[in-house]
Amino acid sequence: MKRIRITGGSRLAGTMPISGAKNAALPLLAAALLTDEPVTFTNVPNLADIRTLQALLEGHGAEVDYAPNSAAKAMRIHTPIITSHTAHYDLVRTMRASVLVLGPLLAREGRAKVSLPGGCAIGSRPVDLHLSVMEAFGAEIELEEGYVVAKTPAGGLQGATYVFRTVSVGATENALMAASMARGTSVLKNAAREPEVVDLAECLVKMGAKIDGIGSDTLTIEGVERLRGCEHQVVADRIEAGTFAMAAGITDGDLFLKNARLEHLEAAASALAAAGVSLTAESGGLRAQRSRGTLHGTDITTEPFPGFPTDLQAQFMGLMCVAEGASVINEHIFENRFMHVPELLRMGADIRVEGRSAIVKGVPQLKGAPVMATDLRASVTMVLAGLIADGDTTVHRIYHLDRGYEQLEDKLKAVGARIERENDPTNGNGS
Ligand code: EPZ
Repeated sequence: MKRIRITGGSRLAGTMPISGAKNAALPLLAAALLTDEPVTFTNVPNLADIRTLQALLEGHGAEVDYAPNSAAKAMRIHTPIITSHTAHYDLVRTMRASVLVLGPLLAREGRAKVSLPGGCAIGSRPVDLHLSVMEAFGAEIELEEGYVVAKTPAGGLQGATYVFRTVSVGATENALMAASMARGTSVLKNAAREPEVVDLAECLVKMGAKIDGIGSDTLTIEGVERLRGCEHQVVADRIEAGTFAMAAGITDGDLFLKNARLEHLEAAASALAAAGVSLTAESGGLRAQRSRGTLHGTDITTEPFPGFPTDLQAQFMGLMCVAEGASVINEHIFENRFMHVPELLRMGADIRVEGRSAIVKGVPQLKGAPVMATDLRASVTMVLAGLIADGDTTVHRIYHLDRGYEQLEDKLKAVGARIERENDPTNGNGS
């Protein structure tokens, strides 16, 4: 097992290339199942989650060629026939986004057997919305031994109007893929508007889908008989960009985030501006640097896009740990997304959690310590804290990090961080 060691004290300066978005690539890969023609994606990030979904698609009969070290980072997916309709527990339990094959399998084949994902560190992560929207499209769904067993009537999926009781990125994506080949018209209301949902919709349109309202909370889809192959570039990862903007802020650095787009980070940019970190558009990306010396305590509440993203909540809390004054961090999307708090407390942070709010009081200095990664975004927060802590910080169980950050230590080292990946003699226990 590996761990990451960071020696605090470096100011980060230089250019950071932003990779393709994990949370766009995953639904895009699933969408390739909708057609028997080849689909080629470029800018596909080389991440553990991508490789997990690749294995899942291959289990359904997809031929996948991936060249992660090529300039285009191209992945070609060709599924002439679906050889299996089952998404097995061993793969689904490692990555809940596997549930995204449900819509495509029902749309193309009229049947699917997908393992329920089980919970994860940040919450129960139900899939009830994924299932209820498929039932709205006429699918019959049974739960059998931990699996969702779904099938459509002889005529296949039937378009319908569906109002999401709460905004769900994944359920919106599953519904979009199913509706694109359902008979008749579908209207999805209170749909998610995340840039990753937009990226999927734009790719489906290239494949021949008829979708109106892209980018809004109401999507109207005219189902078509079949979809064709296409080429599509994965949108840049706004969460990676936001994470590195906070790395610039916390180290009083100056980073150019290549390929990042301000329109995907407006809520984060305004919170960062209030905290004293400017995020400005320059040609080909964004520049992140402190705007007025110290950092200032700033309150945030996580919300669906275009609100402050829950996937940047932990990182922002890390930044607030060394800001002047107090901050209130409200997590309104997931019920248990404060696992980074105990680890930050080990480094000398002053944080009190009350339900879904965390009150952070800035301290002058964090101290390096052995800490544990618990979920993807909490893990990277420990790296951010280690960048400015006094002494060394070792982050254990970094397989969480490798799920969502491509070549993290290489990218940080290139802009001045003292960071190394090394063997973990404690085998992940940190002691
Ligand atoms: C996506 O997860 C992202 N993952 C998450 O990123 C992200 O945090 C989340 O959207 C919110 O933006 C991918 O895109 C692969 P949701 P998803 O459905 O789709 C509840 C990361 O770190 N809900 O929008 O699973 C759910 O419990 C990951 O990259 C239901 O109740 O999130 C949550 O409270 C973490 N029933 C809320 O909705 C359902 O059927 C939002 O979840 C589905 C969701």
